[in-house]
Amino acid sequence: MTELGISHEQHQRIEQWFKRYAQQHSSPDEQVQMNLDLKRKHSWRVAGEALMISKELGLPKRTQRLSTLIGLLHDVGRFKQYIRYGTFEDQKSVNHAEFSVQELHDSGVLTVLPATTQRLVEESIRLHNLPRLPAHDDDEILMFARLLRDADKLDIWRIVLNYYRDHHGIHNRAIEHGMPDTPGYSEHILEALLRREAVHYQYCSNLNDFKLKQMCWVFDLNYGPSIQTVIRRRILEQFEDLLPADAKIVELSTELHNYLVHPRCYDNQLSTFTNQNIIK
Ligand SMILES: [Fe+2]
Repeated sequence: MTELGISHEQHQRIEQWFKRYAQQHSSPDEQVQMNLDLKRKHSWRVAGEALMISKELGLPKRTQRLSTLIGLLHDVGRFKQYIRYGTFEDQKSVNHAEFSVQELHDSGVLTVLPATTQRLVEESIRLHNLPRLPAHDDDEILMFARLLRDADKLDIWRIVLNYYRDHHGIHNRAIEHGMPDTPGYSEHILEALLRREAVHYQYCSNLNDFKLKQMCWVFDLNYGPSIQTVIRRRILEQFEDLLPADAKIVELSTELHNYLVHPRCYDNQLSTFTNQNIIK
């Protein structure tokens, strides 16, 4: 595995910058501040998940620090995105991954790192919100991008599952992406997910479609420790409890369970759900 990484001092310095940055991006509006806090806490927890995965993978200390740092910085653009546009929906505002890279670049915070490491941080962040990770000629960037995508999913599952269970009828549009909380789900979405196609948010018609999509992120996990964590935290079972109890949902859940137990038996080349697929 790669020896690429950062020193304790570099890590500390950039972490301090993040603390100041998050503090500076605040709002007098309670609802806005609540969502900014949500992203700040998410950033720290993704850093924690990235550390857990890199430790479990046996990566060297310097590499563990770098993946932890990438986790902390990956959503830095979310603060300005929400303050400016009042939404975390990229379609209605900006691509938050690109925006995060731009913020890091403009701040100059990464200049304490060698150019190759700066590029690695920026590239893995840029790739973190794509429906599927594209081919890349740099294996190191791919490794950190995979690790970040796993760490991000682990914490998003924690956030949304807590929310779906405990929102007590108080809806947060920033988490639900404006999806109506209506009964049932779209069968063509479920069919597409069973075919392991990446379904874009815009094709979801209600919150249950959205839950199905989030549940199927397990197909996109990259590392054993992430898969083990999903099993240990009973992520699939928690989603199942929140969805209509019918045979199709059980079929999907069984498929996902099988994937978690035997991920290598599956073909990881996935197709993307396009407009053509859905209109039929
Ligand atoms: Fe994130």
